[in-house]
Amino acid sequence: MALPPLVSLKRNVIAEPAVAGWYAWSYLLPPFTLAKYLKGHYRNIVESYLEEPEAHRTALEQARFQGGPFVHGREGSYERIRDWYESVSGQYARLYELADAIDELEQKILPGLDGASMEPVYRELPEPLAGRVELFYNRDNRTPDYRFIEPLFYASPYFDPGLQQVRFSTIEQDAREFALTTPVLEYTPEQVLVTVPLASPLLDRVFAGGLSPQELDGLTADLGLAGERAETFKGFFEETPEPAAAAPQDAPDTVEYVGHACVFVRHRGTTFLVDPVVSYSGYSHESDGRFTLDDLPERIDHVLITHNHQDHMLLETLLRIRHRVGRVVVAKSAGASLVDPGLTRILGALGFRDVVELDDLDTLETPGGTITALPFLGEHGDIRIRTKCGWLLDLDGTRILFAADSTNISPQLYAQVTATVGQVDTVFIGMESVGAPVSWLYGPLFPERLERRLDAGRRLKGSNFEQAAAIVDTLRARTVYVYAMGQEPWLGAVMCVEYDEKHPAMIDSDRLVAYVRERGGTSKRLFLQESIAVRP
Ligand SMILES: [Fe+2]
Ligand SMILES: [Fe+2]
Repeated sequence: MALPPLVSLKRNVIAEPAVAGWYAWSYLLPPFTLAKYLKGHYRNIVESYLEEPEAHRTALEQARFQGGPFVHGREGSYERIRDWYESVSGQYARLYELADAIDELEQKILPGLDGASMEPVYRELPEPLAGRVELFYNRDNRTPDYRFIEPLFYASPYFDPGLQQVRFSTIEQDAREFALTTPVLEYTPEQVLVTVPLASPLLDRVFAGGLSPQELDGLTADLGLAGERAETFKGFFEETPEPAAAAPQDAPDTVEYVGHACVFVRHRGTTFLVDPVVSYSGYSHESDGRFTLDDLPERIDHVLITHNHQDHMLLETLLRIRHRVGRVVVAKSAGASLVDPGLTRILGALGFRDVVELDDLDTLETPGGTITALPFLGEHGDIRIRTKCGWLLDLDGTRILFAADSTNISPQLYAQVTATVGQVDTVFIGMESVGAPVSWLYGPLFPERLERRLDAGRRLKGSNFEQAAAIVDTLRARTVYVYAMGQEPWLGAVMCVEYDEKHPAMIDSDRLVAYVRERGGTSKRLFLQESIAVRP
C-alpha cells in the first residue's frame, strides 16, 4: 500500500510574525523598546484610527503619506480593530507601566541629578526598573545615563511570549502593503493568526515541511488550532514538490543578488546569506529569474546582518529560514540602551542559538576565507548605535564588501580601513541618499520630541554620489554594485520608497555607475536579480 504523500507549506503562503498585535520587527522583542513603541507610537496610531478612520483612509491615498502612522483599513477592519483594542488593553497594562517607569526615570529622576552620588537614586527607581538598570554619569560627571541589564528584562514578566503570533495567508502578487502600522489580525476567514512564541520549534516544523498527514494534524493541534481554522491552516499545505537536486558540496562558487540588500554566496561549499529579505514564489510575478525562498540551499552556514533596520533584519524572512541556518553573525551592540538593544539577545528571543558578535575589524575564519566586520558610520541620525557594520568576505583572496547603508561621513575612515585590511575587489553599496528623518524610526524612543529643524537634518540616509565615489576610490574597488534601494516590490511591507529617475538617489547612483565604468571598472545598480561572477 502506497504511503500518503508528505506535505509542505505552499510556496505562496506568507507567514507574518507579530508582537502585541503589530507586525514584528526587532525592536518589538526587548520588553523596554516594545513598551516604549506601544506607548509612544502604536497606541497613537490605533486611537487616532478609531477616532477618525476616514482621515487614515484619505491620507493613504496620497503617496507622501505612505509609511506614515496610518492604518491600512479594509472592509470590516474598523470593528475588528476596535474589538481587538478593547480586548488587549488589560493585557498590555504591564508594558505601559514599564514605559511609564522609563519615562519617569528619563524625565524626572535623571534630570534632577547634578553630579552627586547616585547611590540614593536606586531606592527611588520605579518598580519595573528596580534591580534591572544601572545608573552612571557620562565622563563630564554631569550628564546622567543608564543601561538596561537586558537578561533580567527577558527573564521578567515584561517579556511575554504569549504576545507573539504568526499570521498565515496566501499572496497572489508581489506588491505588499506597508505592514508596520496596521494591526496584524484575522480580517478574513482566509487568514489564520496563530499565537505561538516566535522562538518555538513548532514554527521550524511548519517551515521545514515534509510532514505526514498525521504529523500535520498533530502540529495543527499543537499550534492551538481547531475546527474551521485548523482546516484553513491545513489548506496552506500541499504535496511536497520533488526537491530540486541539492547542491553538492562541490557546487560551483556563486554570488547571487537576491534583492534589496540580500546576497547569497556559495564558496567552496560554504554558504552565506547577507541581510536576508527573500521573495516568495508560486504566484504570477516570478518569471523574472529572481532568487526566491525555493532557491535557498538546505543549509545556510552563515547569515550576516549588517544592521538592525527592518529592511536588513527582516523577521519574516529570518523565521522562515531559521531551520536552515547555522550561525548568525552580527555587529557588536553598544550595550543595552533604548536605541541600541543587543541584537544577539533579540536573535536569541527569536530562536537563533548560534549568534556571533564581531566588533570593528574582528575576523571570523570560514573554510577558504574570512568574514571581517568593517566600521559602518552614518545612516542612524547621529544617535549612539553600534550595531552596524559592513561585512568584508575574503574568499580565497577575492574580497567582497557589503557596505550596506554606510554613509561616508568621515572621509578618512575608508583610507584608514584600506591601510589596515587592504584593498577590496567588489563593493556593494546602498545609496538611499535622501532617507527619512531620524525620528521616523527612533522618535518614540526619545525622551522628548526632537526639534523639527534638527530632525530634518539628521537623516537615515546612505551615501550620495561624492561619498560613494570616495569609498570606491579609497578601497580601489574595480567592481561596484549599488544595492539596497528598496525598489523590489516585496520590500513594500517594510519600506515605502518608489523612485523615479529624477529622484536624487537614482541620479546619485547613475552617476556612480557611470563614474566606475569611465574608469574601466564594472558597475550596475541592482534590481530584482543578478548572477555575479565571484572573481571579477
Ligand atoms: Fe539602514
Ligand atoms: Fe537599508
